[in-house]
Amino acid sequence: MKAKILNHPLIEHKLAILRDKKTGTKEFREIASEIAMFLCYEATRDARLEEVEIETPIEKMKAKKLDEDQYAFVPILRAGTGMLDGLTNVIPNAKIGHIGLYRNEETLEPVKYYYKVPKDIQNREVMILDPMLATGGSALDAISMIKKEGVKKIKFLCIIAAPEGIARIEKEYPDVEIYAAALDRELNDKGYIMPGLGDAGDRIFGTK
Ligand code: PRP
Ligand code: URA
Repeated sequence: MKAKILNHPLIEHKLAILRDKKTGTKEFREIASEIAMFLCYEATRDARLEEVEIETPIEKMKAKKLDEDQYAFVPILRAGTGMLDGLTNVIPNAKIGHIGLYRNEETLEPVKYYYKVPKDIQNREVMILDPMLATGGSALDAISMIKKEGVKKIKFLCIIAAPEGIARIEKEYPDVEIYAAALDRELNDKGYIMPGLGDAGDRIFGTK
């Protein structure tokens, strides 16, 4: 499975605003959420639909509705929560889990501090959310935790991916589908994505 990179003028436009260091917290949050909605649009192309009978003002017809019970969204704290609104706006009945991870600034290894997922998660398709896929350490840990729950279908949705992170997921978990709004050049020596957008968590929450 090759990573799916959104390739669309609207995404380019939104990314230009998001990446700009002059963009403030309010707009950053709004755009992160909008891009997440587009990622969700792309990641639900294979969604299961159910036939329902409805009546338009003109006549009866057979229509198709999404089985919303098929999904669980799992943002990686903190920054992943900045994508959650975008997905719940379009699939409001999905269940939500949370994985708390932060990167140790020296080793770049993820440190786990929180974990709570829906009881019936093994029966659902899981979309893991994190705006930044850098070294891939956080993504691999999150995927491994969700796999341990017995989940069969996992998608990883991010706004910006580094080639290093994509390569690690593709090697360790070739069955996990990756959706990214942009594929950037490389990582710098501090593990930041170049050109990237800086620290996503700090920009979403205004902590720096
Ligand atoms: C950021 C980002 C990812 C991780 C990506 O989180 O949101 O979770 O780094 O890096 P990796 O691919 O090298 O693991 P951070 O640790 O800064 O935590 P935060 O979301 O609380 O700011
Ligand atoms: N985490 C971020 O928030 N930004 C990066 O560029 C890399 C990891």
